[in-house]
Amino acid sequence: MNPISRIVVVGLGYVGLPLAVGLAKRFQVTGFDLDRSRIDELAAGKDRTGEIDGPVLKAAKLAVTADASAIGGADVYIITVPTPVDEANHPDLGAVAAASRTVGKAVRRGGIVVLESTVYPGVTEDIVGPAIEQVSGLVSGRDFFLGYSPERINPGDREHTVERITKVVAGQTPEVAKALGDMYGAINGGNVFLARDIRTAEAAKVIENAQRDINIAFINEVTMIFNKMGLSVHEVLAAARTKWNFLPFAPGLVGGHCISVDPYYLAEAATRLRHHPEIILAGRRINDEMAGYIAGQIGRALTARKAGASDILVLGLAFKENVPDLRNTKVIDVVRDLEARGHKVDVHDPIVDPEAARHEYGQTVLPALPADRRYDAVVMAVAHHSFAGLPAGGLARIAAPGAFVFDIKGLWRGAAMPADCTYLTL
Ligand SMILES: NC(=O)c1ccc[n+]([C@@H]2O[C@H](COP(=O)([O-])OP(=O)(O)OC[C@H]3O[C@@H](n4cnc5c(N)ncnc54)[C@H](O)[C@@H]3O)[C@@H](O)[C@H]2O)c1
Repeated sequence: MNPISRIVVVGLGYVGLPLAVGLAKRFQVTGFDLDRSRIDELAAGKDRTGEIDGPVLKAAKLAVTADASAIGGADVYIITVPTPVDEANHPDLGAVAAASRTVGKAVRRGGIVVLESTVYPGVTEDIVGPAIEQVSGLVSGRDFFLGYSPERINPGDREHTVERITKVVAGQTPEVAKALGDMYGAINGGNVFLARDIRTAEAAKVIENAQRDINIAFINEVTMIFNKMGLSVHEVLAAARTKWNFLPFAPGLVGGHCISVDPYYLAEAATRLRHHPEIILAGRRINDEMAGYIAGQIGRALTARKAGASDILVLGLAFKENVPDLRNTKVIDVVRDLEARGHKVDVHDPIVDPEAARHEYGQTVLPALPADRRYDAVVMAVAHHSFAGLPAGGLARIAAPGAFVFDIKGLWRGAAMPADCTYLTL
């Protein structure tokens, strides 16, 4: 196995860009993306995902290109493209297959191709390998080699970065696994776990996310039960968490590109093997119901107080706190449900790109808190840092006298509310 020096990262999104920037500290790295506007922005030192700061990006020794003819002959290709589901929640491996064909045209004899996208066990060897073989005329495992290394970073998480987390790595042969382990280890202090084989590494990643989904679903289910009992789940959790082995999950909306999607990949693989995945799909169902449940709680409280339409301000549209990421955000489902109940809903999010929200969902987003309107209800939907201090100042300026404050995330539990506002949480 030749020493690794030239690396190409295919797909420069939330995962690919931080990885490419990290690897570029030790290797000669080219980042390739189909999206020319993304490449132009990156070349100008702008990362719209907010993961890499401008000065870091500008200082990185990273070449970026949208030209597939510029990525030939590298030692390693790393594929980090999206793995969404279709309308019927079946895995859509279109981007993985397309990226594999691109790599097939570029890979040289002896090259290694690593998939980092989250998939079900078998995708690297049964889909990526054959797609590359077909285009390149080379043979997988003889002329070029496969690897899999799941990505574990979270959008917006500056603590668990590619350079600080254990990297699970697998290769088609022990030599490939070792070479890849050394490559990833070069940027994270050798913090590498060599999985037994590629399928094992693929399986490890998909259960990490399915496990989170199921745990959150359990808390969401008990939220519904406790609400019927007149109990606040946040208060119950505060007590339960004092036990040393109680798992600290919280109720809420489950969106994004990973947790709300990946369990369907595992479910599909199970179904093909004629195993009906009970708990995995139950978790998905409960978490998908949460937007309707929350909108129902809000809607009922509003109409119990005042017949007809209310003015509502929803705080936060991103799928999670402190990121501009709108993919599969479930807040939009809450907004639509409230609108369908006849209410007028404004949305404020200081982080998301209003243009992206319009393009993705046809939703207008107010980048600043409205200065001249007061609302019958304020819904705290996403716990962005900038919302934490609102009860101490801005809330009184946006909540009408007697307004409801619905704190979905429990961010403001214990904070003093403006006079006559009714505070409700899950
Ligand atoms: N977002 C996360 O935090 C996260 C964490 C762990 C794992 N993952 C997994 O990593 C993978 C990538 O996710 P992401 O969040 O980085 O996606 P993303 O949408 O942010 O980025 C993907 C990039 O790939 C590009 N692309 C799509 N098809 C391409 C092709 N054929 N050739 C070249 N470029 C192409 C897109 O233009 C985009 O810039 C997914 O499988 C995801 O499940 C994501």
